[in-house]
Amino acid sequence: MENRVNPEPYQWKDEYTVNIGIIDEQHKKLLDIINELKVIINSNTCKDNVSDIFFQLAYLIDHYFIKEEIYFKDLEYPNSDQHKEEHKQFIERIIQFQKDLESNKPNLCLEIYNYLEYWFDEHILKYDKEAVDYLKSKGVS
Ligand SMILES: [Fe+2]
Repeated sequence: MENRVNPEPYQWKDEYTVNIGIIDEQHKKLLDIINELKVIINSNTCKDNVSDIFFQLAYLIDHYFIKEEIYFKDLEYPNSDQHKEEHKQFIERIIQFQKDLESNKPNLCLEIYNYLEYWFDEHILKYDKEAVDYLKSKGVS
């Protein structure tokens, strides 16, 4: 029995917009990755395409997490440590997924998909919004 997810792509919602360019951009990219995973899972082509997913996740981490963290440092965001810890856990989870790929763990794309969905709800709608309020109060846009 193959796994399937709802094929309907997630749409960006106004309520996701935080009006800080670098953060909105990052969140839209993550939603794109989740939507790409939907296609991969439903077409049962995880093995062929998962390396592209890892490539995009690595870009997200290298590019956007770091920029967020630089803002936190420069602007002395008080919850910086907690937020950075969240980023660290995300990175470790992605590394674990890469190991799962090497060991041919089944349903890998579905697991990544579930994790990214969770991350979108938890980190993006919670931690990043909290950080955004602080960054905006310091004039970031
Ligand atoms: Fe973040």
